[in-house]
Amino acid sequence: MIAGRMAGSVPTGFVRSSLTRTRNFGIRLSHRFMRLEPLDGARPGVLVTGAGGTIGRILRAGLADSYALRTVDQVPGPGVDLVADVRQSERMEAACAGVSAVVDLAANPRVDTSWAVVQENNIAAAVATLEAAHRAGVGRVVLASSNHVTGMYERDEPYASLLSGRFDGFDPSTLPRIRADWPVRPDSFYAVGKCAAEAAGRYYAEQRGLSVICLRIGTVNQQDRPRNPREYATLLTHRDLVQLVRRCLETPLDLRFAVFYGVSRNTWRIWDIEDAGSALGYAPVDDAEQFR
Ligand SMILES: NC(=O)c1ccc[n+]([C@@H]2O[C@H](COP(=O)([O-])OP(=O)(O)OC[C@H]3O[C@@H](n4cnc5c(N)ncnc54)[C@H](O)[C@@H]3O)[C@@H](O)[C@H]2O)c1
Repeated sequence: MIAGRMAGSVPTGFVRSSLTRTRNFGIRLSHRFMRLEPLDGARPGVLVTGAGGTIGRILRAGLADSYALRTVDQVPGPGVDLVADVRQSERMEAACAGVSAVVDLAANPRVDTSWAVVQENNIAAAVATLEAAHRAGVGRVVLASSNHVTGMYERDEPYASLLSGRFDGFDPSTLPRIRADWPVRPDSFYAVGKCAAEAAGRYYAEQRGLSVICLRIGTVNQQDRPRNPREYATLLTHRDLVQLVRRCLETPLDLRFAVFYGVSRNTWRIWDIEDAGSALGYAPVDDAEQFR
């Protein structure tokens, strides 16, 4: 490859990604002035941000029968109605108009996301979405947070053993599971950003009148199954994810602010979900043990 560059030829991968970037830029530009399709009016309108990603694809399929969905992502793709960066406040306010709830997924989801990207994209995107929802009079925002906001507990016992698949001497019925009201212990800049997003959610709930539910999502992957020992504890299956988000959308708005873990009923889960059961009626059906 170095020889190719020296000889003046450009690697195919580079050409392809430049072409994709140029094409995506063109699509974003054309969407800047696009009129959004009106919502159907018969079903509650829900705006999904980051809708082109892994979780967005699952929710689009899982919610479409009950909600009139409007979808936004900065990257064009199938099922994305509006190609825009959610930090563009005018576009986001227009996208929020007439919807009763927003499911906010837009972020770079990698745990090793740099502080610069966390600040410039992830935190800014969460705040911009909350602000647009507030201005448009949306009732509820369901905000995708992450289990990594309490990731440092995983260095402690019994969690360290359980996540590496060592179960001897432990009884799942007496495990002290990590609760959403325990102090945050972020394990990365990515997680620091999610703490900030949760705090912004609380601010918009307590000071600006939105209802905000933050979901500290475990592991949602395309394969819909555990890929390593940790994921037997952290898996949130597609159908449990859809159920959890549905419960968040259906729960009355007098639940002003709350934080819940999003995980299936895995035998060795390390996070408490009793609170999501009593506040939302979340009753997961899958246990990652079914994949052993
Ligand atoms: N998948 C998981 O296991 C998991 C676990 C915990 C938390 N989460 C959170 O859930 C959300 C969705 O995760 P995912 O796995 O689907 O990620 P993903 O990368 O597949 O999807 C995220 C989408 O957001 C879009 N996006 C990012 N910044 C944007 C911006 N400024 N404007 C518009 N669109 C933007 C991206 O283009 C992408 O399509 C993220 O907030 C992530 O942090 C995911």
